[in-house]
Amino acid sequence: MLEIIEKHIATVASTTLDSPEAAENFRIHYLGKKGILQALFADFKSIPGDQKRAVGQSLNELKTAVEAALAGAQTVSSSKKKGPTEDYSRPGYATLPGAHHPISLVRNEIVSIFERMGFAVAQGPEMEDDWHNFSALNFPPEHPARDMQDTFFLAKDPDWALRTHTSSVQVRTMETQKPPIRIIAPGRVFRNEAISSRSHCVFHQVEGLYIDKNVSFADLKQTLLAFAQAFFGEKTEIRLRPSYFPFTEPSAEMDIWWGLENEVDYRMTKGTGWLEIMGCGMVDPAVLESCGIDPNEYSGYAFGMGIERIAMQRFQIPDIRAFYENDLRFLRNFQGAP
Ligand code: DAH
Repeated sequence: MLEIIEKHIATVASTTLDSPEAAENFRIHYLGKKGILQALFADFKSIPGDQKRAVGQSLNELKTAVEAALAGAQTVSSSKKKGPTEDYSRPGYATLPGAHHPISLVRNEIVSIFERMGFAVAQGPEMEDDWHNFSALNFPPEHPARDMQDTFFLAKDPDWALRTHTSSVQVRTMETQKPPIRIIAPGRVFRNEAISSRSHCVFHQVEGLYIDKNVSFADLKQTLLAFAQAFFGEKTEIRLRPSYFPFTEPSAEMDIWWGLENEVDYRMTKGTGWLEIMGCGMVDPAVLESCGIDPNEYSGYAFGMGIERIAMQRFQIPDIRAFYENDLRFLRNFQGAP
């Protein structure tokens, strides 16, 4: 009998009760009315007197082992009942909302202002041929902008380059549409320039073009004033300075009055109070002709602005490289912006 009891003790010791059902079956098996312990205690009565002590001791040992196993199973199941070990009172992990890139924010705002004025969005390829990027825009063959310094030419075919400005979209639009044309063309442009806090080899521009009968410089001026006041505030003043671009005649540079009290970064207005925003002018008749539009019937204006420069001004970003580093600490500043 001693042997049988010892076998049971070994079995109990190696049993794991991993569910309430297992524990209950185990309890019935050992402690139930028809269980093993009942039977053993019944047999115990008929054991010879000299063996009673030893058998009694091991019987008690078995009973204690069975009870200990059941008690252990209960703590496991009661801690399981509490569910997973998570603490539901802890603050949750926030799912951070995404953010628009500051360049997209500024581009979208510029585009929507011009859309309200009746301009449609036009697009063109980032890889352009000489005709669309230069020739049709009246760049003479020896013009310095064609120099390898400024343009990324494609190694395989130097007639192709990464567009150096979105003015190429003007050409593509005039070639394929009949006036009246009123488009705005946002996009990425590329220049072979040294990277610094003020300039980068990849940046963004928005080009505007309006072609119709009797379009005048006054129309250009009024449109740009309306844009400047919508974007920078209704009291914004603008000035147009004579300038030169091969594809416009006359050409001008538009500045907005920024004021000296806002000159946090001396480079902003270089102490003049005027901030240069864009180039513009009346589309040169030679450009109209290159694109198949009769300059005797139609005239038009064009303008082009850099998005980075405006975004730097708007968000007070001192270094253009911040736009392309994808540093989350920078990008998170724009969370929640429209
Ligand atoms: N394409 C010029 C540039 O990249 C910007 C520009 C100036 C565009 C005058 C125009 C314009 O349409 O009329 O610097």
